Amino acid sequence: MPVTAASEWRQQVRELAQQRDAVLLAHNYQVPEIQDVADHVGDSLALSRIAADCAARTIVFCGVHFMAETAKILAPAKTVLIPDARAGCSLAASIDAGQLRGWKSEHPGAVVVSYVNTTAEVKAETDICCTSSNAVEVVDSIPTEREVLFLPDQFLGAHVQRVTGRANLHVWAGECHVHAGINGAQLAAKAAAVPDAELYIHPECGCATSALYLAGEGAVPAGRVRILSTGGMLDAARATGARHVLVATEIGMLHQLRRAAPEVEFRAVNDRASCRYMKMITPAALLRALREGVEEVTVPAEVAQRARGAVQRMIEIGQPGGAE
Ligand code: 13P
Ligand code: SF4
Repeated sequence: MPVTAASEWRQQVRELAQQRDAVLLAHNYQVPEIQDVADHVGDSLALSRIAADCAARTIVFCGVHFMAETAKILAPAKTVLIPDARAGCSLAASIDAGQLRGWKSEHPGAVVVSYVNTTAEVKAETDICCTSSNAVEVVDSIPTEREVLFLPDQFLGAHVQRVTGRANLHVWAGECHVHAGINGAQLAAKAAAVPDAELYIHPECGCATSALYLAGEGAVPAGRVRILSTGGMLDAARATGARHVLVATEIGMLHQLRRAAPEVEFRAVNDRASCRYMKMITPAALLRALREGVEEVTVPAEVAQRARGAVQRMIEIGQPGGAE
């Protein structure tokens, strides 16, 4: 966008947000213009916490559909808008409520832990939700003798299994097409090319296991490999002494990282790792959402009521933070 058009757009967005008494929330994977105009930018957990607590009458969620649904579950009296309702998530689409009910019937008595990247109907069948920043704490909060069904992400599930050492944790074989596409070969090549770099790896990545393997083999010093949520990456960037950091997650993340630590050089492990759903939230779509009050996100009251307990337990567990 040319500079004048960009500043006019920004001014219109801010004025319309004020007229609607709307708070603008943007996920770390949004395009830079949207991140820069938002009231808060953060990871899924931090944005859920803000949605639950904010005073505004309207929440405009610049992220994907399950995130806006989660905001509606936590704040049922508020109007929740998403600038493009087609912004789905391949991970959330990897399990539906019927499949989960079938899996539960094979493991009676198991505790169901669902990643927040799930539909409201799946959350309604869940005991506790988690995000990438508190998945380990959520599983640790469950008595060790209880079986756990962890869904839908196989890579995050493998990470939680590794950290908690739990043998009675069963993992659904879902994946995010963006993160699964960041693989071990790309990571090994980039790590060899920048030998002093730290590695920030989102636990949904196909390369998370390779990173731990490389560390185990001594190819990358173990202290340089960090498995982090998007919010965790920002905390690590602010504290790092490294000059180079390789980032394995969706490329929208680089914008916040560069803002948080301008002296550090951040490089994507795979610079084609872009989530087309996140990128459906364009500057034009945001303006239209604010002008026309669209697209409103609704969750049937009975589903929301069954999902709310699981989501509330998620926001109570783990360290606050992850947004600015
Ligand atoms: P975070 O929970 O780290 O924000 O990640 C959300 C997501 O969609 C990952 O792809
Ligand atoms: Fe879903 Fe993957 Fe996009 Fe995250 S990056 S919203 S998990 S499709």
